[in-house]
Amino acid sequence: MEKKLAIIYGTGFGNTGIMARAIEEGAKNAGLDVITKKIDEASSSDVEKADAIAIGLATYKGAGMPTVIKYVESLAKIPLKDKIGTAFGSYGWSGEGPIAVTNMLKGYGMNVIEPSLRIKRIPEEEGIEECKQLGKKIAQMLK
Ligand SMILES: Cc1cc2nc3c(=O)[nH]c(=O)nc-3n(C[C@H](O)[C@H](O)[C@H](O)COP(=O)(O)O)c2cc1C
Repeated sequence: MEKKLAIIYGTGFGNTGIMARAIEEGAKNAGLDVITKKIDEASSSDVEKADAIAIGLATYKGAGMPTVIKYVESLAKIPLKDKIGTAFGSYGWSGEGPIAVTNMLKGYGMNVIEPSLRIKRIPEEEGIEECKQLGKKIAQMLK
């Protein structure tokens, strides 16, 4: 059966959403079964069923979006050890969000891809390609 990737993301203005869709494209092209959800549609069962998770969040006021941080906190009750995890997000100048989530995923014992993929403001061609490559990398790690 195809391995599953869950991409869960929060975005204020859509930039992190552009990243999520490019990661999805890269992962699908590399043969993964991908589910992509905005944070307000996501539940912990999305992650439970997945072999890998990619958590996206923009940074506002020196921190990751609180809705996403709370969601990742809620994953503490799920067995995540040895699943693949990574964090990504658009930012303006400091980009704390993906770093915070990376540390949380490591705390859960996940096999975490580092550094997190952070793109300044609106992802352009090069950034979109990096996102696609991240999707491909996750697929290769699951093989
Ligand atoms: C009110 C406000 C506060 C922000 N605070 C930060 C910040 O503390 N650090 C940072 O790196 N970027 C900050 N940004 C920039 C956003 O992270 C950036 O615009 C990003 O592209 C938004 O991504 P999104 O479209 O996925 O929401 C801030 C933007 C706004 C509007």
